Amino acid sequence: MSESAIVSQEELQNQFTYMDAVAELIRGRHLRAYTHTFGCQQNEADTERIRGMLHEMGYEMTEEIDKADFILYNTCAVREHAEDRAFGNIGALSHLKKQRPDVIIALCGCMVQQEKNVEKIKKSYPQVKLLFGTHALWRFPSLLYRALTEKKRIFDIGGVDDIAEGLPVLRGHGPKAWLSIMYGCNNFCTYCIVPYVRGRERSRRPEEIEKELRELVAAGYKEITLLGQNVNSYGKDLGLDVDFADLLRRLNAVPGDFWLRFMTSHPKDASPRLFDAMADCKKVAKQLHLPFQSGSDEILRRMNRRYTAESYRALIVDARRKMPGITLSSDIIVGFPGETEADFEQTLALVQDIQFDLLFTFLYSPRSGTPAATYEDPATPQQKQAWFERLLQAQDAIVAQRQAAYQGRTMRLLVDGTAKGPDYPFTARTEGNLLVCVRGENIKIGDFIEATIEKTSLRCLFAVKQ
Ligand code: SAH
Ligand code: SF4
Ligand code: F3S
Repeated sequence: MSESAIVSQEELQNQFTYMDAVAELIRGRHLRAYTHTFGCQQNEADTERIRGMLHEMGYEMTEEIDKADFILYNTCAVREHAEDRAFGNIGALSHLKKQRPDVIIALCGCMVQQEKNVEKIKKSYPQVKLLFGTHALWRFPSLLYRALTEKKRIFDIGGVDDIAEGLPVLRGHGPKAWLSIMYGCNNFCTYCIVPYVRGRERSRRPEEIEKELRELVAAGYKEITLLGQNVNSYGKDLGLDVDFADLLRRLNAVPGDFWLRFMTSHPKDASPRLFDAMADCKKVAKQLHLPFQSGSDEILRRMNRRYTAESYRALIVDARRKMPGITLSSDIIVGFPGETEADFEQTLALVQDIQFDLLFTFLYSPRSGTPAATYEDPATPQQKQAWFERLLQAQDAIVAQRQAAYQGRTMRLLVDGTAKGPDYPFTARTEGNLLVCVRGENIKIGDFIEATIEKTSLRCLFAVKQ
């Protein structure tokens, strides 16, 4: 099945022809493009491809929206808040479009895969000239060409679950890069819109992934994060007898000094085999983001998560036994329909037991089209908010304690950016992906350094370079 899921060379070649046509069309006009991304790393990686194509066609990138001739929002549909923000942003552009009618406003990404949003944009946001879904990304050059040459608005929200190899990419500055290893999701957790807007799971072929990793390492990237909604099911669709643990081992063998990270893992597919591979592979950072969502088995069952709080605990015990000191993080949904005080207490208990280094906590947001949106939801917003705050407080106390334990330790860090304060002018990451502000002589972004932790706070460690 994988062969048919790959966009053919012919179709891609056609898009490259359109890239040339756009380049010809805008030659000498010094056009600028602005992009903004909502949502997860997958979306950020997609935006980098679009920026790559824009760059190839001769657009200059700008951070200033007022100066842009082409404006693109890559949207997210995972929670209502993300959708509201995107609509707010596009709404605010109507004045800009009046002042400068030539500007092209485009919208893509997960929100656009939903009929109701498309209708709303068609009807109420006439300033949007170009609309394309996640499956149409690789057709961007032909869509842009049409947007530049045709009077009517362009919509492309069709397409099938495919993989386009070989598109240009313009990555951000700094030593970190995303590397998509698979697309889509088959899990259908009952609260989640992702499977509906991203299609079925499809894995890139291992040799393509390795090739891209080699290019990234050669280009000087030091931290490469393998992306997928559920990386543990990598390869199941390939029929090649290769799973995610095999892929990690293969990528770990690529020469060079770099860290490999990955996200996201699903507890139902995370396995002792994966932890063995992580433990064996020196370049695989000892860090695990393993969302458990809820500590109540009844809620997990109704979320269609297919594991229990006990099996989750067992996974963590195994991971910590094989990789002492591993950094752990998780996602949690508070206020899933039907959640009771007793369910919430079980979530809190799991958080207290495991002692995560980092938590991403979300209030449940109903997504129309998902099963959970039709479930009864008796808890009041006030109740849910109170649970949410109790969870944050509990986690803050845990983090304060865990961070303090780093005091005085000397660790390997990757310097990845500049910090705001003058005392510690650089930011860096530990192998466990903890944020560190650093000071010292001769620090350069992209360097691995040894540094000693001088003090700690809730959000950041502070270190001096050795
Ligand atoms: N594929 C990843 C995460 C995808 S979305 C995984 O399975 O872990 C990222 C996080 O958003 C999820 O882990 C979940 O905690 C949260 N999320 C998804 N749908 C949501 C909803 N309807 N309301 C609130 N949070 C949601
Ligand atoms: Fe959504 Fe579940 Fe798929 Fe993650 S695994 S993207 S939460 S359906
Ligand atoms: Fe959002 Fe789409 Fe990612 S819905 S979380 S941008 S896959």
